[in-house]
Amino acid sequence: MTNPSLLILPGDGIGPEVMAEVRKIIDWYGAKRDMAFDVSEDLVGGAAYDKHGTPLHDDTMAKAQEVDAVLLGAVGGPKYDDLDFSVKPERGLLRLRKEMDLFANLRPAQCFDALADFSSLKKDVVAGLDIMIVRELTSGIYFGEPRGIIEEGNERVGINTQRYTESEIARVAKAAFELARRRGNKVCSMEKANVMESGILWRDVVTEVHQAEYSDVELSHMYADAGAMQLCRWPKQFDVIVCDNLFGDILSDTAAMLTGSLGMLPSASLGAPMANGRPKALYEPVHGSAPDIAGQGKANPIACILSFAMALRYSFDQGAEADRLEQAVETVLAQGLRTADLAGEEGVTPVNTSEMGDAIVAALEASV
Ligand code: NAD
Ligand code: IPM
Ligand code: MN
Repeated sequence: MTNPSLLILPGDGIGPEVMAEVRKIIDWYGAKRDMAFDVSEDLVGGAAYDKHGTPLHDDTMAKAQEVDAVLLGAVGGPKYDDLDFSVKPERGLLRLRKEMDLFANLRPAQCFDALADFSSLKKDVVAGLDIMIVRELTSGIYFGEPRGIIEEGNERVGINTQRYTESEIARVAKAAFELARRRGNKVCSMEKANVMESGILWRDVVTEVHQAEYSDVELSHMYADAGAMQLCRWPKQFDVIVCDNLFGDILSDTAAMLTGSLGMLPSASLGAPMANGRPKALYEPVHGSAPDIAGQGKANPIACILSFAMALRYSFDQGAEADRLEQAVETVLAQGLRTADLAGEEGVTPVNTSEMGDAIVAALEASV
C-alpha cells in the first residue's frame, strides 16, 4: 500500500516557522505510529513570486490537485504590498481554494481550559467553548464579477460583487448540517437578508435544504452584525455557524479571540470527494504571515499543528490520532507552556516556537 501524500506549502513570514513544528509532528507519526506520509514541499505566496514571478506556479497547482491533502502555512507580507493585484501572494492561496473547489471552510474555535483565563472576555463566557464556523470559501464577494477599479468621471471607483448561486449556498449548508449532526445538532445561519438580495437567497436556500433533508437539526437565522455581537456576548449559544465568504473571514477572526489568540485557530478547507472517497482538502491556520513577529521565534505553532490534526480527522480517517494530538496540545497548555502571544502580562516567561513544538512532541510521546 502506498503512503498517503501530503503537499506542504509553508509560504511566507511565520508560515515556514510554524510549519517546521508540524514537520516534527509528522515525523513523529511516521516513526512512532507507523503512519508514514509521502511529503513533498513547494512554494506559495511571496516565496513563489520571488522565484517564479507568480504566487502559485502551475506545477504546484497541479501537484495540489493530485495529493491526498495540502498543508499551508501563511502567505503575504509588507514586501509584497505594492505588487500588481494579480500577482499578490494572497492570489496564490485564493487560486488554490478556487481551482480545488474547496467550498467548505471549517474553522473551529475551542477554548482550552488552560487558556480560559487568557481570553479578553470573561472566563465564564469562554470556558468550555466549542463552536464551528463553516465559511463558504469559493464564491461570494471574493470572486464575483464585475470587479476592479475603474475611472468614472474624474474619479476612481472600486467595485466588488457579492454573487451566490442556489447550488453554492445549498452545498455549504449541507456541509454545515452534516457537521452539526455529529456535534451539538444546531446550525445558526448568518447573513444580511435585511439589506442584501444575496442574503435573502442565502436564508431561503438554507431553509429549503433544512426542510428537505435536515429537519432533525435545530436551525436559526441571524443577521451577521448581530451575530458578531452575540459571538462576543455569549458564544456558547452557538454550535455550528454557517455564513458566506466575507462574513466567515471576519467572524472567524472574532472567534479567535474567544480562544485566547489567533495563533490557536486551525482550519480545514474541504471540497467534493475524490475518487478515493476522501474530500479534496487544504489545511491551514486561520492566521496570516504575522510580519510583526516573523523571524523572531515568537510564533505560536499550535494553529498549524491543530490544522494537521484536522487533516488526520478529515482526510486520513484517523480520528483517534487527531484526538491524541489535540490532547497533547491541551497537556502542554495545562503544564503552563505559553508562546509570547499567550504569555500576557502575568510574568510568564514565554517559550519559543521550536520549544512549543518539541513540548507537543514530548506530550505525544508520553501518550503512547
Ligand atoms: P496576521 O494574522 O498575520 O496577524 C495579526 C496579528 O496576530 C499580528 O499581531 C500577529 O503577530 C498575530 N499572530 C498571528 N498569527 C500568530 C501566531 N501564530 N502566533 C502569534 N501571533 C500571531 O494578520 P495581518 O497582520 O492582518 O496580515 C499579515 C499578512 O498575512 C497580510 O499579507 C495578509 O494578507 C496575510 N494573511 C494571510 C492569511 C493566510 O495565509 N491564510 C491569513 C490572514 C492574513
Ligand atoms: C484567511 C485570510 C485570507 C482570506 C486572505 C489571505 C486571502 O484572511 O484565510 O482568513 O481573506 O480568506
Ligand atoms: Mn482572514
